[in-house]
Amino acid sequence: MGIAVDDKTGWVERFRRDGMAVAGSYLEADEVTRLQAGADRLIRRFTEDGHRSQDYWCFDVEGDPRPILYRIHNLERQDWEEVSALHDPRLLKLAEDCLGAPAEPTAFALVLKEPYRGAEVPWHRDRCNVPASRALNLSLSLDAADKDSGCLEGVPGSQLLPDDADVAAVRDAGPVVPVEVSQGDVVIHDVRLVHGSGWNNSARWRRTIVIEYAVPTA
Ligand code: NI
Repeated sequence: MGIAVDDKTGWVERFRRDGMAVAGSYLEADEVTRLQAGADRLIRRFTEDGHRSQDYWCFDVEGDPRPILYRIHNLERQDWEEVSALHDPRLLKLAEDCLGAPAEPTAFALVLKEPYRGAEVPWHRDRCNVPASRALNLSLSLDAADKDSGCLEGVPGSQLLPDDADVAAVRDAGPVVPVEVSQGDVVIHDVRLVHGSGWNNSARWRRTIVIEYAVPTA
């Protein structure tokens, strides 16, 4: 059951203050299931069909013949059935509500953490070449995620820090807040947010469609 697009229930304000918020469920359960099945087909091209391309980002593990796939970049350019869902007007509206201005999608990816093998993402800021609340990453959770499966973690308010803030020092000072989600939840975070995520120590996948939206610069 999705929530109405105009039901902001405070998360727009939380996004602007904290740089991160769970906006809740925006798609119907069957839409999420379809996206998940589409994501699985893309993953199987890599794991079963041996497909390799510059858009399939992976790394090797010593002593293991199977490389670990962690990102399918340029998701909008992949040949898959669900590509139109990336341009869902409900998601664009959500991003524009947060940014308080007309926005456009600027990047699409499928971010993956395989059960027991998905690696941590070192702490970082996506980019600092825009002021706060001018660009965000919207994560559509295809799986429930918690700390055990390597969910997003961030330092609230860190999007407001100067461009040259020391990421490790900001993380150490905290507070580090894990963003646990249910399947179908949409999470938004400012591209300037100091964030990272841990290893997937669980038997569950963590599959996330990430769309960056930005207010076009004049
Ligand atoms: Ni990031």
